[in-house]
Amino acid sequence: MKGVLLAGGTGSRLHPLTRITNKHLLPIFDRPMISYAVEALVGAGITEIMVVTGGTHAGEFLRYLSNGHEHGVERLAYSYQERPGGIAEALGLAEIFVGDDAVLVMLADNVFGRSIRPTVEAFGEQKHGARVVLTEVAEEEHLRHLGVPELGPDGTVVRIVEKPHDPPSRYCVTGVYCYDPSVFSVIANLVPSGRNELEITDVNNYYVAEGEMSYDLYEGFWGDAGESIEAYYAVNDHVRRNGANRRD
Ligand code: DAU
Repeated sequence: MKGVLLAGGTGSRLHPLTRITNKHLLPIFDRPMISYAVEALVGAGITEIMVVTGGTHAGEFLRYLSNGHEHGVERLAYSYQERPGGIAEALGLAEIFVGDDAVLVMLADNVFGRSIRPTVEAFGEQKHGARVVLTEVAEEEHLRHLGVPELGPDGTVVRIVEKPHDPPSRYCVTGVYCYDPSVFSVIANLVPSGRNELEITDVNNYYVAEGEMSYDLYEGFWGDAGESIEAYYAVNDHVRRNGANRRD
C-alpha cells in the first residue's frame, strides 16, 4: 500500500502564522507538524510515500524530510499542487505514483494519539472500495466544521455530509482515507463544489453509493491542528503530554 500525505492548501484558519510558512511546517511540540503524519504512516508499515504540497514554502519540505530515510521512509516522492483546488484534486496528483496499488491518504494536519495500523491492516483484507476512520466528537458545534456520516440502523454509512448545519451523527470523518486504485477515475469525474474545490467527501459518497464504503471507529485522541488556533494548541498540549501515534 502506498501513502499520500496532503500538505497543500492555504492554511487560512491559522493566519497570520501561515502567511509566512506552510501550516504543516508549524511546530507541534518539538517537531514540524508534517512529521507526525509521516510517523503515522511509517508506524503503520507504509514506507512508500508521496507528499503533495503547494504555495511558496514547498522547498522546506525537502529540506526537512530530505529523502525520507532518516524518518523511516524507503521511497519519498513529492508533487506540487498549483492552486488549492481541494483535497481530492491534491490526491489526483499522486495517480502515477500510486499506480495499481491501494493507497492510504492522510491530511497532514491530522494528529492521532494512537497508531492507525489497525485501519491499514483492515484495508489490506478488504482490498476493494474505500475505508474511512470515524471518531466521536463531543461538541455539536465542532461537528459543523467537519465531514459527518449519517449511519443507518445496521451501522453502515448512508451518506457523508460536509460541514453540516445539522450534524446527522456524533461522529466525524477524520483525515485518513483508504482507496483501491479506482479512486483516480472517481476523481477524474468529479465536479467542483460551490467553493470551487474537488471535495474528498464527494469521492467518499461515490463509494457509499456503490456499497463499497467501510469504516473503523477510532477511540483515542484525534485532532485537526489546522482547524483553528485553539485546535492547534489543543493538539500541541496533548502531544507534549502524551506523544502521538502510540502503539500501546
Ligand atoms: O480533518 C478532518 C476533516 O478534513 C474532515 O472531517 C472533512 O471531511 C475534510 O473535508 C477536511 O476538512 P477541512 O476543512 O479540515 O479541510 P482543509 O481544507 O483544511 O484541508 C485539509 C488538509 O488537506 C490540509 O491539511 C491541506 C490539505 N489540502 C487542502 C486543500 C483544500 C491540500 O493539500 N490541498 C488543497 O487544495
